Amino acid sequence: MLETAVQCVLRYHEQTKHHLNRYARSLGYLDWATQPDPFRRFDGAPQIPLDHPPPSPELLYDALFTGQPVSTGRLDRHAISRLFYDSLAISAWKQAPGAGRWSLRVNPSSGALHPTEGYLLTGTVEGLGSQPAVYHYSPYAHALEQRVALSGDEWASLTGGLPAGAVLVALTSIHWRESWKYGERAFRYCHHDVGHAIGSITFAAATLGCEARLVTSIGQDALAALLGTNRQHGIEAEHPDCLLAVFPRGDSYPARPPAVDVPTTLLERLATSEFAGSPNRLSESHHHWPVIDEVARATHVPVDETAAEEGTDEPPSIALPGAPINRPLPAQQIIRQRRSAVDMDGRTSLPRETFYRMMARVSPHRGFPFAVLPWPPCVALAIFVHRVADLSPGLYLLVRSARHERLLRDALKPDFLWRRPAECPDDLQLWCLMEADCGSAARTISCHQSIASEGAFSLGMMADFEPSLRHRGAWFYPRLFWETGLIGQVLYLEAEAAGMRGTGIGCFFDDAMHDLLGIRDRSWQSLYHFTVGGPTDDLRLQTLPPYEHLPLHDVPATAPTTEGIAWQTGLNVGPREPS
Ligand SMILES: Cc1cc2nc3c(=O)[nH]c(=O)nc-3n(C[C@H](O)[C@H](O)[C@H](O)COP(=O)(O)O)c2cc1C
Repeated sequence: MLETAVQCVLRYHEQTKHHLNRYARSLGYLDWATQPDPFRRFDGAPQIPLDHPPPSPELLYDALFTGQPVSTGRLDRHAISRLFYDSLAISAWKQAPGAGRWSLRVNPSSGALHPTEGYLLTGTVEGLGSQPAVYHYSPYAHALEQRVALSGDEWASLTGGLPAGAVLVALTSIHWRESWKYGERAFRYCHHDVGHAIGSITFAAATLGCEARLVTSIGQDALAALLGTNRQHGIEAEHPDCLLAVFPRGDSYPARPPAVDVPTTLLERLATSEFAGSPNRLSESHHHWPVIDEVARATHVPVDETAAEEGTDEPPSIALPGAPINRPLPAQQIIRQRRSAVDMDGRTSLPRETFYRMMARVSPHRGFPFAVLPWPPCVALAIFVHRVADLSPGLYLLVRSARHERLLRDALKPDFLWRRPAECPDDLQLWCLMEADCGSAARTISCHQSIASEGAFSLGMMADFEPSLRHRGAWFYPRLFWETGLIGQVLYLEAEAAGMRGTGIGCFFDDAMHDLLGIRDRSWQSLYHFTVGGPTDDLRLQTLPPYEHLPLHDVPATAPTTEGIAWQTGLNVGPREPS
């Protein structure tokens, strides 16, 4: 009997679990000779360098969550420069004695492999181009590479359903960048990274007084045709992931996702048009993991995802008691200083109020930033509290949707406490399940990584899994990872704002986490782990400015070699994942 798309996804998911006695299949060593170039270029495409805007100290991080637009929302050349500078650009270079240097970006990425590529589709913007166009964003040059021009009419028909002044940002993934190191599990990591990139763009848009919303009215084929990525073939090809509408924020959030209609005449015209530039080759040779192509095909979105356009009856915000937040933290500084902790100090404790605020900020509501996703929340957090002042160490649960509490009470161990922690705000659905020192369990489950036990807390993101896939379809599988990546992005920034540091954890033993919670089927699955705590810095490393390699506002002919990056990808990724 033919395998259905959902069966294919379930098979992929089972096959790519890490087990205590066996990791998911990968090469088991790092083949430096084939390491992919982390920077995609379209050689020969006209490049438009973007501005390098200084941060505005008066624009505060906490103001992004107030529900009020913080700026005019006008998407001119300066704002578009800012949108990319604060989301997908390089944020720093790192250098170790005697080794090459490697770049860090505003958005994090598993293994710093950066499979996610960004595109801009915009109308005429003074200083960018005299016509509407489709651009690839080059983080190395902080520049736009113009792939194809659109007519005014084409742009108008494409964006007729969007608020005035909107631009579109598209994301694609190069699976090979990730599978080079992580083998079969790489498809999961690519989609965590898409979720982080969605988060990065949503935060950057908010600093401009804009809102970002996922567009659900476009299928992957139409998106690939629009971006020209349908001309790429083979293992280095970019897979179209999503389209985001970025537009000036009004007084209230639109109830439905914005619609983009790609007219057939535009698709026909683009099919016979030349796209400028050719994609650079990333590796000399490759190792194929056929199951990644299989799951990519099974999760393909052929037409649109109207099924995702479900309303949500979640409360608009979580009311926190206590003094209003009044921290002088410039938003762009928090966004650009985000880094992953390589080690945690095993000492620093988080104030309970700060912990509750973090939990409130990742509890979804109709406002910022979770409104970017059009579906109701699918993810709950199982939290190992290690060091939160006035909170007993133990296992806690954050229920992020009113629908989930009953389901989780049925699915988890019957002897869990389900007790409200002291002073917990009424509408924060946080529960203590068990009082215990969970350090050892957290470390073991996260592939024996001590960052999971030596911080203030670490957690597993539990997705309402098989029921979601059976209800919506296989195409929803990557989107579950996007939701976890977005939660991770908020936690990264919340950690920075609290003077701490976060780290995404993609390496964990899936079923060991499920066993701990008492989950015996695939109703709930842990898709991503995360830790927050007091970091220990590696003092041997030097930090260099992000764009020292560019004569400002000039564009280099070529990107650097990948030697330095090679070193980094061996360093900051936790344990190797042997086959
Ligand atoms: C999806 C994802 C999974 C990750 N998994 C791990 C992990 O298991 N262990 C670890 O030490 N770091 C992990 N990281 C952190 C990355 O190594 C880090 O983001 C990358 O090196 C870039 O550094 P930066 O976050 O400081 O920019 C992960 C990051 C992401 C986004």
